[in-house]
Amino acid sequence: MKKIIVAIDGFSSCGKSTIAKALAKYAGYTYVDTGAMYRAVALYMLRHEITEQTDIINTLTRVQIGFALQTDGTQHTTLNGEDVEAHIRTLEVGNKASQISQIKEVRAFLVNQQQAMGSAKGIVMDGRDIATVVFPDAELKLFLTARPEVRAQRRYDELIAKGEHPDYNDVLRDVNDRDYRDTHRTESPLRQAEDAIVIDNSDMTREQQMEHIYSLFNKATI
Ligand code: DC
Repeated sequence: MKKIIVAIDGFSSCGKSTIAKALAKYAGYTYVDTGAMYRAVALYMLRHEITEQTDIINTLTRVQIGFALQTDGTQHTTLNGEDVEAHIRTLEVGNKASQISQIKEVRAFLVNQQQAMGSAKGIVMDGRDIATVVFPDAELKLFLTARPEVRAQRRYDELIAKGEHPDYNDVLRDVNDRDYRDTHRTESPLRQAEDAIVIDNSDMTREQQMEHIYSLFNKATI
């Protein structure tokens, strides 16, 4: 069985990272969450109160991102050697990540590192530009999507489970706004690679979806 690169892109709240992690485990591959890398850069800039674009660009050389494997098999993102996993998942960091991800130099800085991580193949990487920019030659490219109403409901349920009291219509509006921003930004907008396999998981169970993806993976590695 040959080792390949799996590129997974798609809209927010499609379950990309859950799917990517499950596939990496199934394949015995390394999983790379590129969103976490944008979030780690954002955290550094927030902590050091760096807001100007030129300052952000000039500070990038001081940002070192890594992934530390935990004993339970999960990975934690590190920033200059510190485990920042718990700090990068907040709304504030997510918003900052969304801003800094529009800067061409930030993208180039991270894309370089992502390409180096895939040089030995055997990798599952998820994000917004993996099949279009980072690995245009990836052997398996998946583009995940689901109807906005379905994604909004999933996010709504997650927030309720966290003890929050969101309004469904606000959540749906947020999903639509994010889709618009992701697909309309100038730098590497989210778009489907021509040779990507589209998976709309609106009406699929997780099991059905994984079965489909495992079978695509098995075919791609023959
Ligand atoms: O997937 P996420 O929510 O963790 O991503 C955080 C932000 O980074 C989000 O605004 C999109 C951006 N991002 C990106 O521009 N390119 C990627 N490859 C991954 C994430």
